[in-house]
Amino acid sequence: MSDHTHTNETAPIVLAYSGGLDTSVAIGWMKEATGRDVVCVAVDVGQGGEDLQVIRQRALDCGASAAYIADAREEFATEYCMPALHANALYQDAYPVISALSRPVIVKHLVAAARQFGAATVAHGCTGKGNDQVRFEVGITSIAPELSCLSPVRDLALTRDKAIDYANAHRLPIETTKSNPFSIDQNVWGRAIETGFLEDPWVEPTKDVYSYTDDPEFPPVADELTITFEQGNPVAIDGEAMTPLQIIQVMNQRAGRQGIGRLDLVEDRLVGIKSREIYEAPGAIALITAHKELERFTLEREQGRFKAHVDNRWAELVYDGQWFSPLKHSLDAFISDTQRYVSGEIRMRLHGGRAIVLGRRSPVSLYDFNLATYDEGDSFDHSHARGFIELVGLSTKLAARRDAANTTASEGGQDDA
Ligand code: ARG
Repeated sequence: MSDHTHTNETAPIVLAYSGGLDTSVAIGWMKEATGRDVVCVAVDVGQGGEDLQVIRQRALDCGASAAYIADAREEFATEYCMPALHANALYQDAYPVISALSRPVIVKHLVAAARQFGAATVAHGCTGKGNDQVRFEVGITSIAPELSCLSPVRDLALTRDKAIDYANAHRLPIETTKSNPFSIDQNVWGRAIETGFLEDPWVEPTKDVYSYTDDPEFPPVADELTITFEQGNPVAIDGEAMTPLQIIQVMNQRAGRQGIGRLDLVEDRLVGIKSREIYEAPGAIALITAHKELERFTLEREQGRFKAHVDNRWAELVYDGQWFSPLKHSLDAFISDTQRYVSGEIRMRLHGGRAIVLGRRSPVSLYDFNLATYDEGDSFDHSHARGFIELVGLSTKLAARRDAANTTASEGGQDDA
């Protein structure tokens, strides 16, 4: 055996660690199954909740040989959420690809740790039924084809009951009694809630499902704000300059208070299953509403039309775990080119579950008052309209004439027979 092979056989496993029961048990579970050390990486994508230093210590207490916290919040907001905003990304016209967006940034940090620790394997806690396993594994092999992937839940049969038994038997410092009925994934772009009674698509979500949003049926007084965009990026709220992360956080608070961005969908998973999902994405939905409106104001008509198709495909690719694919890369280039003039201001009212655009202005819009006005003295040359309509309708008019001529002839023929 060469040294290289020998190194690989003892190389540690890098685990995407959440601090929850499954990934905590996975540390010892994988060590026993493979004989390798486990290095834990917890990536902060703005999920909030438990202190990440507490999570790091738990990884060590559960047997990790090393544990890392990667603060990826600004990176996630700037390099992942902003491109999603440029693409107005809504999978199946509804889901703002919340979880799908965070997987590639987590993957980047896992791969960096794998290289630092000489690991040959990266592990994650996803089940074998969802999209996230695909996003992790396709993501990892897309940027580090030499790495292999391991899913203890899927590949080493780590079920929930076994995890509870294991945690109790090994006295792991992790809660095993409190049963949260939901599977939740959250980051600064939004929150996904599934499983439990929500698996019955007829049953309405209860109030305790939500945490990023307040009940839109009992909203506080309406909130008005102005968002400034520069080349597709929101850069200020009410004139106050902020980073992308800060803008998303402020919008989550202000739109969240009004109950904006609650979604209840049955969506098509990549693995073929239809699943019922609840989402809350107050900031994302309000920002996409504003951004779309500014695009209507500034994009040339054909460019805007074509972009709608590209946007849709972009969201599908990201949903499908193709963040690092060549097609996604090419679509990024197109979308980024379209953002050149998406600059200006959008004035919005947030109230009772809705983000409504009240006004828009831009020094580079294609809106020309003198062309648009119905008042006296417009600059639009009405005499051009007549010839334009003649030519726009010409090919269909010729086809209609032919139809008329042939309908009469064939009906005549039938009469003869
Ligand atoms: N269905 C969504 C998606 O595939 C959300 C997944 C959320 N993940 C979770 N472990 N709860 O993007």
